[in-house]
This record gives sequence, structure tokens and C-alpha cells, in this order.
Amino acid sequence: MKRITLKAYRTLRSNAVGFVVAVVCTVVVLITSLQAGVKEDTVAAGTDAPVAAPRKGGAELWSENCVRCHNLRSPSSYSGTQWDVIMLHMRVRANLAPEEHKAILEFLKSAH
Ligand code: HEC
Repeated sequence: MKRITLKAYRTLRSNAVGFVVAVVCTVVVLITSLQAGVKEDTVAAGTDAPVAAPRKGGAELWSENCVRCHNLRSPSSYSGTQWDVIMLHMRVRANLAPEEHKAILEFLKSAH
């Protein structure tokens, strides 16, 4: 009787050890895969950055943004001062960032 109890205890204990080992392994695998995920994100962000980094030129921004609502007006259609005023209005309409506004305005004025 005593022996059986001891055997049962040992079985139970080895099961418990097995359980703990399994839990630890799972946690380790989880942490490793999480870290791998973080690394992938970092690598992805790293490879994305140089693509996004080169700023678009004024001509490109102009052709992308200013044709959404109407045909493009040639830069030579208006004087620099007129473009200043027009761009004050269109900047709001096209929802341009300050640097985009500046780049487009420089492009429009450079045509004169
Ligand atoms: C969200 C729509 C929208 C976007 C984007 C937009 N425009 Fe306009 N634009 C208009 C509207 C509407 C008018 C006419 C009414 C007015 O003058 O406010 C106009 C008028 C103009 C005029 C005057 C035309 C005339 O006959 O007097 C010019 C020039 C112009 N836009 C240039 C631009 C430039 C340059 C950009 C890019 C930075 C741009 N627009 C982006 C809507 C837009």
C-alpha cells in the first residue's frame, strides 16, 4: 500500500515536472517568436525608411495634388505674386503640409 502511494506520488511528481517543462518551453517559444516579430518590424521599418525619406520635389507634389479637383494651371499662367495668393487658398483645399506648400510654390515660381 505504501509503495503504491509512493509510486503514484512519483508519477504525479514526474507529470508535474513534465507540465512545468512544457509551460516553460511554451513561454520560451512565445517570447522568441515575439522577439522575432519585433525584429521583423524593425527590419521592415528600416527598409521602408529610405524609400519614404527622399522628399518629393515641388513638380511631383504639384502634379499629384493640384489635379485632384481641376486641371493643372500652367505655372506660367500666373505671376509669382499671384501664385502666392492662389497657393494660400489651394494649400487649404489640398490640405498641404507646410513643406509641401513651400515646395510647390517654389516650383510654380521657378517657371518664370
Ligand atoms: C480640394 C480641391 C482642390 C485642390 C486639391 C486644389 N484646388 Fe485649385 N481650385 C479649387 C476650386 C474649387 C477652385 C475654384 C474656386 C476658388 O478659386 O476657390 C480652384 C481654383 C484654382 C485656381 C484659380 C483658377 C482661376 O481660374 O482663377 C488655381 C490657379 C488653382 N486652383 C491652383 C491649384 C493648385 C496649384 C493646387 C495644388 C496646390 C490646387 N489648385 C489644388 C479646388 C482645388
